[in-house]
Amino acid sequence: MKTKEELIRKVKKGLIPSHIAIIMDGNGRWAKLRGLSRIKGHQAGVEAVRGVVDTSGHLGIKYLTLYAFSTENWRRPEKEAKAVLTLIENTLIREINNLAKNNVIVHFIGSQKDLSKRFIKKINDSYQRTKNNTGLNLILAINYGGRNEILEAVEKMLQKQINKLTIDEFSNYLYTSKFPDPDLVIRTSGVIRLSNFLIWQTAYSELWFTDTLWPDFTPEEYMQAILDFQKRTRKFGGVK
Ligand code: FPP
Repeated sequence: MKTKEELIRKVKKGLIPSHIAIIMDGNGRWAKLRGLSRIKGHQAGVEAVRGVVDTSGHLGIKYLTLYAFSTENWRRPEKEAKAVLTLIENTLIREINNLAKNNVIVHFIGSQKDLSKRFIKKINDSYQRTKNNTGLNLILAINYGGRNEILEAVEKMLQKQINKLTIDEFSNYLYTSKFPDPDLVIRTSGVIRLSNFLIWQTAYSELWFTDTLWPDFTPEEYMQAILDFQKRTRKFGGVK
């Protein structure tokens, strides 16, 4: 077993993905296995978030997108949906100084519809506070749904009376217009699907799945995923 520092050195010898996107799944099952409430599972998940953010910074990854709350998550009991959003808000309040000091820029993607004014103010303030940093771009997908994102992009185009464009031009209407497409998508908890996450942007992403439940996902396993990514040949439909 390599130590975390040894793994960091090993990963840095290879190609560092520019953008990693993570579907953090399995908090509920993690809690159930321990006889705890689902909310305790989400709280434990925050520790794993800290691990991947910190490790991404050390590795020099430029973009990290985390699927924190999907448009479909409103189908959960109201108490749980609200608890996840409150947890995100409280985590931001607690961590923003630390993130700002560590050169992280905090971005948000998703629909502002259905989010409280207070929550929207908090996410806007976090971006304003960190936008001049130059390190890791941490992109939190909150109230995010890929199909919704595409529909909103089409609506924006129609408002501008645009009826013909290229793939690159269309990408400019998405929430992710400022970011490159993900090189690597990671999903935890043994579920092998994208669940409406960045469905336009992941056309050529490498996918990596693990049975580990999100709260148990460690920086070591994160780096294992990146080492696997480094072994793959990406062809983007061409030949190598
Ligand atoms: C999926 O597990 C996880 C979520 C819907 C919430 C993830 C949110 C966090 C870990 C908090 C993130 C905080 C910040 C600041 C980004 P699940 O509930 O679907 O698990 P299950 O499939 O086992 O039920």
